[in-house]
Amino acid sequence: MNVKELLKDHPAWLEHLESRDGIDLALPADLPSALLRLAVPHEDVNAVVAARPEPGGPLWWLAERCVHSLVSTMGSLDGPPPFPALPGLGPYFYVYVYLATLPHTRRYHRELGIPEEVSWATFADLGRNMAVHRKRHGTGGLHAPHWFMLHARGLLYELGRLQFNRGRFGGTGVAGVPAERGDMALDVHVPDFRGPLSPEACDASFEQARRFFPRHFPQEDYRVVTCMSWLLDEQLAGYLPADSNIVAFQRRFHPLDRFEGGDMLSFVFGAAAADPARLPRRTRLERAVADHLAAGGTWYGRLGWLSF
Ligand SMILES: CC(C)(COP(=O)(O)OP(=O)(O)OC[C@H]1O[C@@H](n2cnc3c(N)ncnc32)[C@H](O)[C@@H]1OP(=O)(O)O)[C@@H](O)C(=O)NCCC(=O)NCCS
Repeated sequence: MNVKELLKDHPAWLEHLESRDGIDLALPADLPSALLRLAVPHEDVNAVVAARPEPGGPLWWLAERCVHSLVSTMGSLDGPPPFPALPGLGPYFYVYVYLATLPHTRRYHRELGIPEEVSWATFADLGRNMAVHRKRHGTGGLHAPHWFMLHARGLLYELGRLQFNRGRFGGTGVAGVPAERGDMALDVHVPDFRGPLSPEACDASFEQARRFFPRHFPQEDYRVVTCMSWLLDEQLAGYLPADSNIVAFQRRFHPLDRFEGGDMLSFVFGAAAADPARLPRRTRLERAVADHLAAGGTWYGRLGWLSF
């Protein structure tokens, strides 16, 4: 395998990686136990173990530099270019990159006094995103490999039902928002495979976040939480019942820009989203999404904000 050939369509990334040394890849001696601790689905464990990169091989070279890229930007809001999803690297390449990075992330968490259970709840998103890959494609792999960069670099934390990541507010002069472009802001995310989005669970997460960030990042001043999601498309409220968790979640946010996309079909239907003409209609949300599209409607993603 020629890694440079494989990366030829990503010149900025290749240049970034070539500009740095590698970090020795220290992979766990007991790989299966380490994978299970990261919530890697059981049906993926053997295949991940079998895909272990060869020391000294081309993937090893690349993995060492990916790890260095993550470790050298630990905690920083200005990150490296996102890891591209390249089929030529095999379905589990980035799992190894993250396995080798997490001891560094744990050290960073420990220095900040972050409790172990928060670290491990956060890291379990690695396995969850392998389950998401299977839900969407029916095969093993890691969904959106760049996503876990946020976790590995100490930017994202799972606090109960919700995830929060340290970032910057992108709007300018938005009426009512107590932040300007470039001010610190938290982004909130709703992970899949974690049960209902009940208002009580969300309240508890926000409460936890209000204690967590001042305690562990005392030099950072957060006044705003933003969310960018299909869950905030207000058209949903016209279909879902008043006691819907999604509708209650929407009501927490002041709406800002609307955007096309948002990945709603994949989040809701997984692999079945590939055939929009035959979407299943098992739940009220599935019926709402499918009926709206069948009637010629469009779903959007929406950015929302709330005071923190
Ligand atoms: C966010 C989430 C937990 C909300 O689920 P919830 O708490 O059940 O939400 P509601 O109470 O509003 O559900 C209303 C109806 O929609 C259904 N529903 C909700 N989310 C669904 C989903 N992802 N797929 C299929 N049906 C869903 C519910 O089962 C319920 O229907 P029913 O009464 O017929 O059973 C769920 O959609 C989910 O796990 N999504 C994946 C993660 C995601 O999309 N995150 C946002 C990324 S930007």
